[in-house]
Amino acid sequence: MEDLEELVKKIEAEMPSVDFSEEFSIHKISPEYVEYMLYPNSYYRAFAVMIKMFGYKKIIEVGTQDGASAIALSKHAELVTTYDIGDLGKFINSNDKIEKIKLGNSMDCINLDYDSYDLVFIDIDHAGIVEPLIHQKLSKEYKGFVLYDDIFINDQMKSFWSSINNNKIETDWHNGVDFGLVEYI
Ligand SMILES: C[S@@+](CC[C@H](N)C(=O)[O-])C[C@H]1O[C@@H](n2cnc3c(N)ncnc32)[C@H](O)[C@@H]1O
Repeated sequence: MEDLEELVKKIEAEMPSVDFSEEFSIHKISPEYVEYMLYPNSYYRAFAVMIKMFGYKKIIEVGTQDGASAIALSKHAELVTTYDIGDLGKFINSNDKIEKIKLGNSMDCINLDYDSYDLVFIDIDHAGIVEPLIHQKLSKEYKGFVLYDDIFINDQMKSFWSSINNNKIETDWHNGVDFGLVEYI
């Protein structure tokens, strides 16, 4: 088991040096998201550091929206596969490193092939219904880190977060509070 406090400290020490200028030149990210991605302690910076630090190659994301997070994940990865049930990825201007896949319904993400990826990022509707089902699936077959956004956004997510018995840590990588890192072994 990793010492997650130490790991978060190591990641945060590298976050100020993340440079997304190449990504900003490739993709069409809106100005407010550029600002958001450059926030000093943003999870976007944390992604870039963590993927480089561990040498991760293949990343899976559920919850693409416009694609800001997929773009950040792609900085040091070989391939990011990102899924959404809605229109997805309007910021993404190149499919060289980012594969966008539209799912048919909100339950489709439960049975994705998570164990063939090095890192998982879950950022969906935060209703606290699908997240526990993904966690159950990951608990059976996945080994590695999973990142969950918005773990304190509402009572359902707080309850989901507190139900996770794995090695886990809360970080302030989203709006100064609620971003979670969980280890699956
Ligand atoms: C908060 S946004 C994602 C933001 C993005 N990860 C970022 O940081 O830039 C959530 C997205 O999850 C999608 N979504 C919600 N429930 C989902 C589900 N069950 N499966 C896949 N996508 C889902 C929504 O359509 C929405 O685009």
